[in-house]
Amino acid sequence: MSPKMKKALNDQIALEANASSSYLAMASWCEVTGYEGAASYFYAQSDEERTHMLKVVHYLNDMGANATIPATKVPSASYKSLETLIKTALKNEQTVTAAIHKMVEISQKEKDPSTYAFLEWFVNEQVQEETKFETLLQKFDLIGRDKLAINEIDKYLAAQATAEAEPAA
Ligand SMILES: [Fe+2]
Ligand SMILES: [Fe+2]
Repeated sequence: MSPKMKKALNDQIALEANASSSYLAMASWCEVTGYEGAASYFYAQSDEERTHMLKVVHYLNDMGANATIPATKVPSASYKSLETLIKTALKNEQTVTAAIHKMVEISQKEKDPSTYAFLEWFVNEQVQEETKFETLLQKFDLIGRDKLAINEIDKYLAAQATAEAEPAA
């Protein structure tokens, strides 16, 4: 694997680790704010990002390229509202998507078919991740932003968290 490809994949470990810790902080804020559904949703989302990080760690090690485990940034501990929090989550995902697309480009330039194939899963995953948060944001326009509406959205998030916790394919 080329040094450039290796660096990009190691940077991706940091992005996934930061996403995991950022969603953990979001989950914790939701929990103390009383948004139980959103809390379980974001705790699960944090776990999911950790599995993404592990995928990259294992891939680098399998390729004999040695993964580097990074320090994570201190995530934001509080949010103005549930909607702001989800907007931040969508922005995070858009950053991750751009980094993955950049890696696909590098894998093509460096003629690295293994990494190109490895990245395909991440490309598809990002489409789903962005759609998930965009759909959630639409709920605020559709249902509303008053207390009752937020409670409905929190219930929706609880249902989503349960659905996603079901044995994955
Ligand atoms: Fe991820
Ligand atoms: Fe994600």
